[in-house]
Amino acid sequence: MASKKRDPSQLRSARWFAPDDQRSFGHRSRLKQMGYDTEDFQAKPVIAILNTWSEVNNCHTHFRDRAEEVKRGVWQAGGFPMEIPVMSMSESFMKPTSMYYRNLLALEVEETLRCYPVDGAVLMGGCDKTVPALIMGATSANIPSIFLPAGPMLKGCWRGETLGSGTDMWRYWAERQAGNLCEDGWNELEDGIARSPGHCMTMGTASTMTAIAEALGLCLPGSTSIPAVHSTHARMASACGRRVVDLAWDSVTPRELLTGDAFDNAIVTDMALGGSTNAIIHLIAMAGRAGVSLSLDRFDEISQQVPVIANIRPSGEYVMEDFYDAGGILALLEQIRPFLKTDCLTVSGKTLGENIAGAEIYNDDVIRSPERSVSKAGGTFVLRGNLAPDGCVIKPTAAEERLLQHTGKAAVFSDYADLKARIHDESLGLTEDDIIVLQNAGPIGAPGIPEWGMLPIPDYLLKKGVRDMVRISDARMSGTSYGACVLHIAPESAIGGPLALVQDGDMITLDVEGRKLHLDVSDDELERRKAQWQPGEPRIKRGYGKLYADEITQAPEGCDFRFLHDGPETPEPDIF
Ligand code: FES
Repeated sequence: MASKKRDPSQLRSARWFAPDDQRSFGHRSRLKQMGYDTEDFQAKPVIAILNTWSEVNNCHTHFRDRAEEVKRGVWQAGGFPMEIPVMSMSESFMKPTSMYYRNLLALEVEETLRCYPVDGAVLMGGCDKTVPALIMGATSANIPSIFLPAGPMLKGCWRGETLGSGTDMWRYWAERQAGNLCEDGWNELEDGIARSPGHCMTMGTASTMTAIAEALGLCLPGSTSIPAVHSTHARMASACGRRVVDLAWDSVTPRELLTGDAFDNAIVTDMALGGSTNAIIHLIAMAGRAGVSLSLDRFDEISQQVPVIANIRPSGEYVMEDFYDAGGILALLEQIRPFLKTDCLTVSGKTLGENIAGAEIYNDDVIRSPERSVSKAGGTFVLRGNLAPDGCVIKPTAAEERLLQHTGKAAVFSDYADLKARIHDESLGLTEDDIIVLQNAGPIGAPGIPEWGMLPIPDYLLKKGVRDMVRISDARMSGTSYGACVLHIAPESAIGGPLALVQDGDMITLDVEGRKLHLDVSDDELERRKAQWQPGEPRIKRGYGKLYADEITQAPEGCDFRFLHDGPETPEPDIF
């Protein structure tokens, strides 16, 4: 990395603290109010530690300790650390969905970094949407930043069996609905599925997005695989603190690292991991903030070439603790080196190729060779057709193979409340060959494009042993979920996309290999239905909900807010 070493007068924070004037006197005297001496802050890069800890975020319970460990590293390297709390988005508790608030955290991060005397930032995240939100905000602010991943929690256990976050909850819930699991067993599962701090330890959105952050060059090498409670994780936090001081002196900004090639590396990594379908929406949004144009088609092009080699649930058998012990992300990336643009720069100061050089695999059943891959093609396919003119996605590795080429009769539910009320009604008489269709679950319709896409299978079919059906919606699905679920249909039904026009009994064809989703209804009939279609009233008409409804884009555009994605560069704040 070419050195652009700055002297103290060139630090951004020097504008606050260096001048001999009344305002700077105020800034310095207020640091002294907090007990700092001139030696603590003078001529040092100010490092903001953006901490998403709170008592409502179950995945970040160790972040108070980690923030202290980051500070230790910052002090050691000659920086001045300042911990700043930002919105604590918990995937487990936020309603309607944390995705509804991703852009709000991104906005908060951007403006927090911009308005304070910050020279560099440590972004502390992991739980699902915290990862893209922190990166989107830091990219827009374009202040030197390093991402500190929360790390996966330890594996779950029940009666001697490994439990994976989310995935095994869905699996055993189906068994309970089918009458195969008693209440005691279900309660024991609740005790055993989440046993330590850290994010979900299957290849859900958190594990996918943190690995992607590393592939983009924003993390220390290997950091994203380290389990949250390992002592290595604490040492990694201090190393982040030391490294970000160098990044601040060298003025290495996110947009310098987040090139088109870096985003290709992120997609390759996503595909090799069999990553969460959510990654597509987040990567498009993150690329938009970096000024890189990314289309759905790029994901499909790369998925044709890159095999899934991570044998991790829900596509595979293992969990993240096994992945770490098998060599982790560095070993996986070294295994797929031919697909990577290895000369991309990273926050380590080295290229991605240098970071992964020589990384070994210690368990070749967890990290497979391309010859013994979990799937020959990548983890996510993009489909189009008259039901999804702007595209939709499916994760074939998590679906029953018999459903990947399937024609069936639509059973339509107009929204989630309708689905909940009627899905188990035996008088509907659904069969395993029918296709369950959910409308009004997209970015505007739900709102927030929630993770409802793994639509429930009727109890009476579960009892007959059915465990997968084709399910179609404009919703997302948790990365820990599985099934033949077609997601992110665009345009969404709430704005009059063709999904809004589907009626009970219509025939639908899903052809994953041919990348098609087709509604077998004539164009004339669709025109007739469209003429009768009326948009619903927005449910939220004030506050954040109003801003959201006015500004949100569709899934293939990343569901970013238009006013955060578009427009000229925001100038540095005036300092008076
Ligand atoms: Fe936080 Fe799954 S609940 S990552």
